[in-house]
Amino acid sequence: MAAQPSDSKLDALLREDRVFSPSPAFAASANAGDPGIYARAERDPDAFWEEQAAALRWMAPYMHVLEGEVPAVRWFAGGRLNVADNCVDRHCEGPRRNKAAILWVGETGETRTITYHQLRRDVARCANALKALGVGRGDRVAIYMGVVPEAAVAMLACTRIGAPHTVVFGGFSAEALRERMADAECKVLITQDGAHRRGRVVPLLDNAAQAVRGAPSVQKVLVLRRIGDPALRAALPPGMAVDWEEAVAGASPDCPCEPMDAEDMLYILYTSGTTGKPKGIVHTTAGYLVGVSATCRLTFDLKEEDVYWCTADVGWVTGHSYVVYGPLCNGATTVMYEGAPDYPARDRHWKIIDELGVSIYYTAPTAIRTFMRWGDEEPARADLRSLRVLGSVGEPINPEAWMWYHEHVGRGRCPIVDTWWQTETGMIMITPLPGLVPTKPGSATRPFPGVQAAVVDENGAPVGAGAGGNLVLTRPWPAMTRTIFRDDERFVRQYWSRYPGCYLTGDGARVDADGYFWLMGRVDDVLNVSGHRLSTYEIESALVDHPQVAEAAVIGRFDELKGQAVAAFVTLKEASDVSGAAAAPLRDELKAHVTKKIGPIARPEDVFFTVELPKTRSGKIMRRLLRDIAEGRALGDTTTLADPAVVQRLKEQYEEGD
Ligand code: WT7
Repeated sequence: MAAQPSDSKLDALLREDRVFSPSPAFAASANAGDPGIYARAERDPDAFWEEQAAALRWMAPYMHVLEGEVPAVRWFAGGRLNVADNCVDRHCEGPRRNKAAILWVGETGETRTITYHQLRRDVARCANALKALGVGRGDRVAIYMGVVPEAAVAMLACTRIGAPHTVVFGGFSAEALRERMADAECKVLITQDGAHRRGRVVPLLDNAAQAVRGAPSVQKVLVLRRIGDPALRAALPPGMAVDWEEAVAGASPDCPCEPMDAEDMLYILYTSGTTGKPKGIVHTTAGYLVGVSATCRLTFDLKEEDVYWCTADVGWVTGHSYVVYGPLCNGATTVMYEGAPDYPARDRHWKIIDELGVSIYYTAPTAIRTFMRWGDEEPARADLRSLRVLGSVGEPINPEAWMWYHEHVGRGRCPIVDTWWQTETGMIMITPLPGLVPTKPGSATRPFPGVQAAVVDENGAPVGAGAGGNLVLTRPWPAMTRTIFRDDERFVRQYWSRYPGCYLTGDGARVDADGYFWLMGRVDDVLNVSGHRLSTYEIESALVDHPQVAEAAVIGRFDELKGQAVAAFVTLKEASDVSGAAAAPLRDELKAHVTKKIGPIARPEDVFFTVELPKTRSGKIMRRLLRDIAEGRALGDTTTLADPAVVQRLKEQYEEGD
């Protein structure tokens, strides 16, 4: 992971090992009222999950809580239920009927309130529109949208009819969208003409129009008009475009919820792994919903009157689990904000919190560090009294950012839940429960009740207190991914082979003497840029795709705001000239090439041309040494290199070039 800067203030914080105990304000909270929850879950995890499953509405009861051996486990086998029924319909039958399900804020200033009653009608209409396009149970639907209520409606409509969705983040390129739709063999794509982002328009429909040309399974494209600019009604192949307004608004608001099997596929979400090809992480119905519903309720101490805002984009797992499914399953009010935190000004989030009375706010360390840089005055001008619980997710939160969040946003009175989890885990795995678990800045504290984690060495033996090792999960949990779409073999190899019976997270961690977990970032070739997961190999493949590039090595170097920034070391084909003035244009061209292949999030910050890359005798690029160079450190062990002089030369050139 990104090395922490050696800052004396930070060292002091760590040395102090500050502990924040739950405040009296939480004395009456659900968690504080249930101090036995950890012991109860530990004594009988199945009974604990059964207790959580009782919060859902089942169409047929399950036979067993947990069946089988990892990784081939089945949760709540035999049970039948429907996710849209649980997240929407059942809330319409009681006093929540007229409660706001979604409070939406557009970047351009408009707001919308959608009650559970209205959401039910919208979801049913959209489900009927999908059926009319030929989508049935088991058919995959791609969703490529911004943060608009219709994105949640589309997801829920898919679950209503049993069609697994695959949401592709709107910041991904046409090519990334095409690759995902082709892999999942999607029948229909749901998109919008464009999305507002920081005062500009993201041309989603243009990208979609390009993408469908290489994804032959896609038959129809349902297009929401968000921008309304006719120029954006791009060149979809003839007969493919279906207007959302016409198809959805005109459809019947009655559509039965398909009774789904507990283990039916709910969705596929692509994430970057350690090879070039993104992995289609598969989540199934019952276990996922039980897991996200329970973790959302307990981690955030979610109450009936809360206004809950998770700032993630629906394109990431955080958006799936904690913008849409977790809060709605609990009948909560979930806030969706379309745009950037600095549009039109840097106080946008604080204004939204005050205007909507947000009580739970869940964001990423990269956002917190950005707010810190914008200055204390921004949140100071706001009221923020409605806030009760603060959350963090996506990467380790450095103690300084934790303290700033605590003081300037939480005003010293809101517990912070630092939640560690992954696309694959589906749900929050390591987190404090507010009101119950004292927090330490920088630590995600302890596993969620019923979850079991350990830090182990190379041989799988638990390391002692304070020592670093690999974080593994040692007991199955309901929301665990069941496989990689159409690649069971890769699934087993990637997660379940290193330590038999244990799930390998790919993260390094240590456990302190109090049993608190401190996450230390990825130990594999996965990058974390602003909380977004990227693969070194994926970016390297994009670079090598450029006609002038011979070889590329990509690393994440420490970046104060983003956590990590993408740095690329590139060797060129012989005829290429990058001397003097030729270097800058080619550097820009390569950055643009990666943006085109993957999307703006993968754009390298630095591109460094070199004649050789440091390799082992077996030809493996030693990225660790490149990280040392990019972060200005002394070189680590170079004894396994084929030619140690290469890296020495590279370091000198790099330092000269800087
Ligand atoms: C990786 C998973 C889970 C939603 C967002 C990212 C890192 C995530 C934390 C945290 C330290 C964290 C890990 C993990 N990560 N949350 N609270 N503390 N690290 O999902 O894209 O699947 O990435 O994000 O490295 O493995 P993802």
